[in-house]
Amino acid sequence: MHSGSRTIQLLCLALCAATVHGPPAGAVESLTDDELASKLKSSVVFKSKDSLKDPSIKLPAEDMKWWRDAKFGMFIHWGLYAIPARGEWVMHNEKISADAYEKLADEFAPRHFDGGAWAQAAKDAGMKYMVLTARHHDGFALWDSPSSYGRFCSMSRAAKRDFVKEYVDGCRGAGLKVGLYYSPMDWRFPGYFDPKGLPENAALMKAQGYGQMKELISNYGSIDVVWYDGGWLAHTGTDADASWFWEPVKLNKMVRELQPKAVINPRSGWEGDFQSDEGGHEIFGPIIEGSWEKCLNLNASSWGYNTTQKLMTPQQIVHMLVNVVGRGGNVLLNVGPDRDGVIPPSHVETLRQVGQWLGMNGRSIYGTRPGPLQPLDRRYCATFHEQNVYIHVLDWGPEKKLTLPAIRGTIISATVLGGGKISCEQTADWVTLTSGIERAAGGFPDVVELVLDRALSNDGLVLPSGSAVKGTINIQDTNRGVSP
Ligand code: GLC
Repeated sequence: MHSGSRTIQLLCLALCAATVHGPPAGAVESLTDDELASKLKSSVVFKSKDSLKDPSIKLPAEDMKWWRDAKFGMFIHWGLYAIPARGEWVMHNEKISADAYEKLADEFAPRHFDGGAWAQAAKDAGMKYMVLTARHHDGFALWDSPSSYGRFCSMSRAAKRDFVKEYVDGCRGAGLKVGLYYSPMDWRFPGYFDPKGLPENAALMKAQGYGQMKELISNYGSIDVVWYDGGWLAHTGTDADASWFWEPVKLNKMVRELQPKAVINPRSGWEGDFQSDEGGHEIFGPIIEGSWEKCLNLNASSWGYNTTQKLMTPQQIVHMLVNVVGRGGNVLLNVGPDRDGVIPPSHVETLRQVGQWLGMNGRSIYGTRPGPLQPLDRRYCATFHEQNVYIHVLDWGPEKKLTLPAIRGTIISATVLGGGKISCEQTADWVTLTSGIERAAGGFPDVVELVLDRALSNDGLVLPSGSAVKGTINIQDTNRGVSP
């Protein structure tokens, strides 16, 4: 079927030179449904989308609001694996026996751990919540954990400290929401690798999981985010495949009883309150309905501290952020502190530059919803809040011009956040932005704030375009910069 009637003009616009009066003749017809479908294909993969459904324990929308407004959080992978510094899978990848690995706990006595310093780094980056690996797959707990098999925890070994407590205090002191990551599976248990063949051992691991979760949700006050990982069994299948073993609905009913408002991720085998996309791949495709989060690494080498550094640049992080937020998601960006508890200074500096961009442009991110326009891959994304529409320009194109599909409502002003000249022309069919911004290309995205004569309904969904504008409106050469 090659009907031009269902083509979406915005895609065409990116492919042809934008003009005030619309695309060149014939261009609208040139994209067919199939081509459009492929252009709109999302790169986002929700790895736990087949998890068990149980709406009775899902948070209602009003309790998800803070999380959906927050947009940006800090993920922290930290534990014994910071000592060998080859990533958090070092025990498994290098086939280190549980006996040999556990000796690291006698060396783990971080000299500079300071929950407040981590929280400050997150805050300076413009992040609103944090998630710490209270316990990863190696089984070492960063708190005083009576349920830990063999008391394999920081309080009972060299450190003699409850890092979860210090971290939680740090987050709260900085006004950030508190998240805890927990991996129910534990490589120390042979039963993990063979739950049917070694049911008794596997049952011990399960009992440890329930016991430790209960400790985490009982002893540290209000926990805002519960982030599971590693619910699969023997490194095969999905979290949902392992639900016969973990009984994630039962587990999360316990969480709900003790932490009724905690936002829970989907990786326990139960669907959770949001979906999760993992990794640093480029994000493209349309707006995604519902709550979702992309987690990725600042240092692409591994989640845990790694002496090999492949750092994202601040510009890449901001591009990722606007691409995710413009499609309705949050970004959880990971850092891996070293064995002494220090987030490497180069990472902190990268985060600080992201925070600087957010200081100037944060109103286009926090508290917004995606739309009213669909993103156009590698060109722009849009968010809105009440009567403001924010266009995140990823690439102005050679003519320094973007032509957008119609926006409902009349644009009464157009401003570049942080300063810069812009002219805006609105007709019944198009909005054309022409940049007079003098900044080097290839850097941070520019943000154009369009103020409409009416507020858009804040339901988080894309609004149908269609203009109320009669005639042409010109807003020329505005340069009212917004100070941070
Ligand atoms: C994977 C890895 C793990 C990491 C996590 C972060 O599941 O097993 O090492 O903690 O992803 O999303």
